[in-house]
Amino acid sequence: MERISELEKRYVLDALNNSFETSKNSIYNNKLESAFAETFHTKYAIGHCNGTATLHVALMACGVGLGDEVIVPALTMSSTSIPVVLCGAIPVFADSDIDTFEISAESIEKCITDKTKAIITVSLYGLAPDYDRILELCKKHNLYLIEDNAECYFGTYKGKLVGEFGDFASFSFQASKHLTCGEGGMLTTNSEELADKARRLNCLGYAGVSAKQGKITRNDIQDPNYSRHVSFGYNYRMSELQAACALGQLERAEELVQKRIEVAEIFAEAVEEQDLLKPQAEPEGYKNSYWTYCLVLNTDHPEVDWYRFRDLFQKNGGDGYYAAWKLSYNEPAYHDILQPMDGVWQKYDETCCPNAEYLQKRMIQLKTNYWDLEEAKKQAEILKKTIVEFEATK
Ligand SMILES: Cc1ncc(COP(=O)(O)O)c(C=O)c1O
Repeated sequence: MERISELEKRYVLDALNNSFETSKNSIYNNKLESAFAETFHTKYAIGHCNGTATLHVALMACGVGLGDEVIVPALTMSSTSIPVVLCGAIPVFADSDIDTFEISAESIEKCITDKTKAIITVSLYGLAPDYDRILELCKKHNLYLIEDNAECYFGTYKGKLVGEFGDFASFSFQASKHLTCGEGGMLTTNSEELADKARRLNCLGYAGVSAKQGKITRNDIQDPNYSRHVSFGYNYRMSELQAACALGQLERAEELVQKRIEVAEIFAEAVEEQDLLKPQAEPEGYKNSYWTYCLVLNTDHPEVDWYRFRDLFQKNGGDGYYAAWKLSYNEPAYHDILQPMDGVWQKYDETCCPNAEYLQKRMIQLKTNYWDLEEAKKQAEILKKTIVEFEATK
């Protein structure tokens, strides 16, 4: 199977062969947005240049501003919280569930104050957080819920697709994601009011755009008396080339996601009878879409053992794998710039999010984007061999 097939190439070539005539009418953007909305059972889908811009727009459309607090997981890529800071708001970091690695509802509850305006959940590594409990909290405290699903396509929670829970749901088409067009993002919502606001924020505050209309008409812009900007906004639109490629990927989404799940199943079998590596739990009623296959190294000395295991794995022919990102609040920007700011009441130390601290130091993220399952099986055998050798040399 090809990551990028003839279909995507045909759509991209079509956009090119038309000398961007398609751009004037947003043909591929319109097709992608309608198909995306239908696939994810939502009324509105708005294309963006990436899946960080989507979160920025979603926060602003929800009215998040100066001094507001937004609860985010500590264990995630920092694109989840950077847009909060860019809104002048304060990210408040919630801890992870030790088994699923997802943002913990119990920890979210402890983070809520009278300044909390929204929660951003992340379907980390392809698995949903506990939405029943999180939605209960949103309802009780009147909070917006924004889903960051950059790493999750077609994951489900109690029969519903990830993307069906929040006021907004954000997706990414960055190169490592299930579906890609190199860089790109999609923001979905069922609220026409929020979609109208999001579209204007994504599109320079243009008067002529709306929930379903991503372009102003030529007639309007040719008029010398046309007032374009009714508000202020970013220029975060998706290009036609991105949209053409993403449309092809969306049409192949099931096979692309299924392949990652099959790879994850191969790794799961390889780690069945050992306790050195603990895989991400998939509770009943959840379906993981496996952006990566994640394991936690069961050791008291991760500072040595994480490197030792990786070196052994690679020596045995294993592909390089990723660690989890540093917890966002341990990044210099947060520690050095954000921590001393007024209103930041959390102390960014080891006690802030103990489960996330434990997991981050020990995380092994195996890639699932093997388009040839034989290659994945080879990697799984190498993993098994590495576990035995690692245990023997403890
Ligand atoms: C959880 C999470 N959120 C947001 C993003 C940002 O997406 P993008 O790279 O499209 O801006 C990523 C990854 O890139 C991510 O993993």
